[in-house]
Amino acid sequence: EADRSEPVVDGSESARKVKIGIYFATWWSLNVVFNIYNKKVLNAYPYPWLTSTLSLAAGSLIMLVSWALRIAETPKTDLEFWKSLFPVAVAHTIGHVAATVSMSKVAVSFTHIIKSGEPAFSVLVSRFILGETFPPAVYLSLIPIIGGCGLSALTELNFNMIGFMGAMISNLAFVFRNIFSKKGMKGKSVSGMNYYACLSMLSLVILTPFAIAVEGPQMWAAGFQQALSDIGPQIVWWMAAQSVFYHLYNQVSYMSLDEISPLTFSIGNTMKRISVIVSSIIIFQTPVQPINALGAAIAVLGTFLYSQLRLRSSEDGEAGKL
Ligand code: 3PG
Repeated sequence: EADRSEPVVDGSESARKVKIGIYFATWWSLNVVFNIYNKKVLNAYPYPWLTSTLSLAAGSLIMLVSWALRIAETPKTDLEFWKSLFPVAVAHTIGHVAATVSMSKVAVSFTHIIKSGEPAFSVLVSRFILGETFPPAVYLSLIPIIGGCGLSALTELNFNMIGFMGAMISNLAFVFRNIFSKKGMKGKSVSGMNYYACLSMLSLVILTPFAIAVEGPQMWAAGFQQALSDIGPQIVWWMAAQSVFYHLYNQVSYMSLDEISPLTFSIGNTMKRISVIVSSIIIFQTPVQPINALGAAIAVLGTFLYSQLRLRSSEDGEAGKL
């Protein structure tokens, strides 16, 4: 197992960029498929706590089988590893369930427009919790991000407070998850793929009792009968698809986080949302007003501007690497 405290030096820089480009394209495509099946399921079977749990369960199962069959190398972990993973898993669980609850209440596109504001949360957390400061231009770039998200939220035809707050909570939780993850992966012999596998398993353990308390088997069974009569047996395939694709896109995203800075990761993640927003509006025929779309466009452009400024301001730092 390679010592991951050192940056990857083998292969030329351009080969590495191609590799990361492939990771990004795969990550984004898998994410679009996840979002579509997840929303199809939530429309027919609105139990976001259960579907969030199933996503983690599917991932855990896939990885346990992969380790047993030696498709993936079993990671060597100790108690220290699981202890340091715990806060990451709490953040992952909160961010995941909050986003899914959000999508059960509002259009997928709306959740992702609000989630495109994640860089603003990253800057605020870095500033006020980690004490890291940025040049004024970086702070100024938050204006279009926050303003664009705000405009979109105010003009959203089907605005719902739980939907909005869920996406906001998810933003905050994922900023912490990404910062802690990168720290946790540094210098460890656990690969990005296995790190995410362990994260899924621990999050599953954390989430299951809450899912049972909030929704519970009685609700799930009654809702399932309803979904079966509305949709038919294919609801089961939709549930399987959303769960498996959730794991796959996250796994690929962690494989890329292994090689890039949390900043580049969060930029890639925001750009990913453009494909999710556009494809979900087309597939679900979401009604969009021009002013609403304008808000989303301003927010995404703001993120692009922000990323350019931050990359420039951290040329020598870790974030400057890619
Ligand atoms: C989830 O369920 O975790 C969210 O849909 C994921 O949001 P992401 O696009 O930030 O991974």
